[in-house]
Amino acid sequence: MSDVGRGMLDFAAGFMPALHAATETVRAGGRLSGRRVGIALTLEPKTACLVEALASLGAEVSVLGNSYSTKSEVIAALRANRIAVFDASTDRAARDAFVDARPQLLADDGAEVVRYIHRERRDALEALVGVAEETTSGVRPLRTMAEQGVLEVACLAVNDARTKTEFDNVYGTGQSVVMAVLDATNVQLPGASVVVVGYGPVGRGIAATARALGGRVTVTEIDPVQALLAYHDGCAVEPLQQAVRHADLLITATGIAHSVTGADAELLRDGAIVAVGGMGQGEFDPALGGEVRLGDEVRAGVRAMHLSSGATAYLVADGHCANTTVGEGNPIEIMDLSLALQLRALDLLAAGDLEVGVHLLPRHIDDEVAASQLTAAGITLDVPNATQRQAARGW
Ligand SMILES: NC(=O)c1ccc[n+]([C@@H]2O[C@H](COP(=O)([O-])OP(=O)(O)OC[C@H]3O[C@@H](n4cnc5c(N)ncnc54)[C@H](O)[C@@H]3O)[C@@H](O)[C@H]2O)c1
Repeated sequence: MSDVGRGMLDFAAGFMPALHAATETVRAGGRLSGRRVGIALTLEPKTACLVEALASLGAEVSVLGNSYSTKSEVIAALRANRIAVFDASTDRAARDAFVDARPQLLADDGAEVVRYIHRERRDALEALVGVAEETTSGVRPLRTMAEQGVLEVACLAVNDARTKTEFDNVYGTGQSVVMAVLDATNVQLPGASVVVVGYGPVGRGIAATARALGGRVTVTEIDPVQALLAYHDGCAVEPLQQAVRHADLLITATGIAHSVTGADAELLRDGAIVAVGGMGQGEFDPALGGEVRLGDEVRAGVRAMHLSSGATAYLVADGHCANTTVGEGNPIEIMDLSLALQLRALDLLAAGDLEVGVHLLPRHIDDEVAASQLTAAGITLDVPNATQRQAARGW
């Protein structure tokens, strides 16, 4: 199995020029050598390339797997390389073992581990120098913790870098969520009514992919600007309780628990499919309101939902993030950017001079990560001429 995993890692590595460039930049500084680094990101071949890059830099890396999205081949390949992967019988046991390794630097996803450490494993706070947070639904609670004065560690909002949000959230998740749902269900998209709940970067990407493939897209929003953006992008905009009635596919992208409830799901048509593209568990909450009864898994990753109307709708991946659970996650080239940023963020945190709080990555790191993919693609940038530079500085 480790050979299969090794093949997957090597294949991914061939599409990750930005990670390779970041590795060499970080190697020159030498700050990660000997540091205990915990990786709590969705464990895919791409993530494993980051793990191996860290190991090559002399870091002592430990990795947290989980029961729904981790691929066993990837674990086998990393273990064959003597890297510690915590993948216990329960997610909690795995997380405890991971925290027991006392990471000094942590790459977290959804702030799951850092929140757990603040709440239940405060013994691990002393060793923790810094946290690089991958996604919107992790940055949000970290900022809330900072505002409430309970955050006790320096954090970098990797999610908010331009080379993350504008690529991973939009193009990566847009493509991978739609593809994962179509593959898992084998239904046709052209002509289908696709309802996207939430029009942040992720919802925008999902809507764009669905429209490009011939879907008829309706967006539901609670923010007037985002709703207006959806309208200008050519989507219909409706309240959820109206849109849900005509959805063939309903995909959530809000990043907030209980955004779509059982009461909403009760309005679905027979055969409608629900999937989560945002934070995963809880964003769609079928137990809240209504009398939705979860039934059998009717095909791999697709469960029947029996509604009180007598209709049967279907839930993809039991409400976990569809792309990372029943699909293979975001495209490699996209994760190349996100994981290069993660590496640069961990290196920056290793300096140990960031104050407690949530910080943005410096702009030059964003620029360097973007430039490394451009270079690999053979694309050359222009530079402004001297007169233009002078004009740009004038008033
Ligand atoms: N699956 C993946 O691979 C992947 C990748 C990147 C981000 N994410 C996750 O996707 C989620 C969305 O990310 P984002 O960057 O677009 O977040 P965002 O916060 O920028 O956008 C979310 C949007 O949802 C809207 N919203 C909130 N509640 C709503 C409701 N009840 N009804 C309708 N709209 C509602 C908000 O107004 C906002 O415009 C986050 O959880 C993020 O962590 C997933």
